[in-house]
Amino acid sequence: MNILEMKKISKAFVGVPVLKEVDLTVRAGEVHALLGENGAGKSTLMNILTGVHTPDSGQVIFDGEDITNCSIAESEKKGIAFVHQELNLFNDLRVYENIFFNKELVTRAGRLRKQEMIHKCNDVFDRLGVSIDPLEMVEHLSASEKQTLEIAKAIFAEAKLLILDEPTTALSNEEIDHLFEIVNKLKAEGTTFIFISHKMPEIFRISDRYTVLRNGEFMETGNIADTTAQKITSVMVGSSFSTAEIYHTRPLGDELMSFKDVSGPGFEDIVLSVRKGEVLGITGLQGSGTSEFLQSVFGELPVFTGEVVIGGKEFRNNSIHHAMKNRIAFLPANRKENSVVPDMSILENMYISEHTLSSDKPIIKQDLELGKYGVQKENLNIKAATPHNLVVSLSGGNQQKVFFARWLNTEAEILLLDNPTQGIDVGAKAEIYKLILKLAEEGKTVVVNSQEIPELQRIADRCAVFYSGRIVKLLSHDEITEHTVMMYATNAVDVEEAKQL
Ligand SMILES: Nc1ncnc2c1ncn2[C@@H]1O[C@H](COP(=O)(O)OP(=O)(O)OP(=O)(O)O)[C@@H](O)[C@H]1O
Ligand SMILES: [Mg+2]
Repeated sequence: MNILEMKKISKAFVGVPVLKEVDLTVRAGEVHALLGENGAGKSTLMNILTGVHTPDSGQVIFDGEDITNCSIAESEKKGIAFVHQELNLFNDLRVYENIFFNKELVTRAGRLRKQEMIHKCNDVFDRLGVSIDPLEMVEHLSASEKQTLEIAKAIFAEAKLLILDEPTTALSNEEIDHLFEIVNKLKAEGTTFIFISHKMPEIFRISDRYTVLRNGEFMETGNIADTTAQKITSVMVGSSFSTAEIYHTRPLGDELMSFKDVSGPGFEDIVLSVRKGEVLGITGLQGSGTSEFLQSVFGELPVFTGEVVIGGKEFRNNSIHHAMKNRIAFLPANRKENSVVPDMSILENMYISEHTLSSDKPIIKQDLELGKYGVQKENLNIKAATPHNLVVSLSGGNQQKVFFARWLNTEAEILLLDNPTQGIDVGAKAEIYKLILKLAEEGKTVVVNSQEIPELQRIADRCAVFYSGRIVKLLSHDEITEHTVMMYATNAVDVEEAKQL
């Protein structure tokens, strides 16, 4: 039985068609993957389903009822819950206040039934197998806890259809496992899912059927079991997709950065030497300290002890500004919380770092910026109608490209990239890898933190594996494999070595 039929949906934004007669059919009780490149129209289609946007034409049938042009509230009432690509929570409210926002339980006299709301939260968290304190402020939660909270909201709404728009981009591999357990649990109870992701392994792990969009058009639908990642990718990107090996060994420069017994919040005794022009991968499980390490180099977190030397001089960092002045760039993880300035245009978002650096030259030369914008747009293949639109009008992956460009505009020599391909589609990922290698060839030094090992295999000269805040192994390019990394990242290597004795 079909729970959802979207028929011939079309939508244009200011005259630019984004969806062209798209069909989407979802069966009750399945996990349906909605796939396509950045800007293909996936989020827009879901926004139409949930009443955020109205379609220009087409029809939406949900659970036997025509819900075309319904409002957000009506779609919620019908049993559709949407966990947006960029989470929608109030950081300065408590967990239970977020869950019951606008649906507060009150007594007849209008007083809040706080204890009851807290109690109900605990019930749902138990059901999901998570331990979150309903009284905690949301700003103190981790990315995965926030994600779980969004799902909890959907459960309170008793959703029949739950849309997860790239739910895993800010999650670690372990957190993804937990999320998938929750999805499977709810699926067993009869919930239907639409799942949007750019990560093929997880699509194949969790989905039953799939639909591919390309450039706002329906391309193909089918059973996941009847296809392969290669086939789906070529439908997504057309014939131009290439998986060719792009890594090649290059002569590296002299030592540019060194760390001697460096400790900070979440990492300890880091000993590391990075050469000019090198691409160094760093990886580890959630909480292994890789992200904190990058944040400390950039001055966002402190360094407690140890010595950092950059370009032959001791580098005592006390602020982000100081790092930037020393030509260090940092693309942080978690786009929504750390990169997006929602009230600014694409152009303003792209230049914000450069403006900070050139604050002694207060005149903004927009024609110069527009020229450079054109180059970056081409370089990174950013899908944007005009640079003067708000950055939030871009699709998620295209926003991420803008934040990449934000740092390419500065003349940084050291690029610290934390999960740089977050939300970027397979084709564009390959482009970004090429760009990183090109930058390295030109003499830039790049440190990439990633949990996607295939990503590190394609670009990293070496890879430092972190376990519990320490570097436990430095792998050469040829040694980087999923198996070897996991052995060290989980500290299983001791056990394995012992077995071989
Ligand atoms: N409010 C808006 N105003 C103008 N253009 C928009 C708006 N919302 C979306 N678009 C445009 O519609 C197109 C499709 O965007 P959409 O967000 O649906 O892509 P997506 O498939 O979700 O991509 P991603 O994988 O990058 O998230 C993009 O070119 C985007 O810029
Ligand atoms: Mg999207």
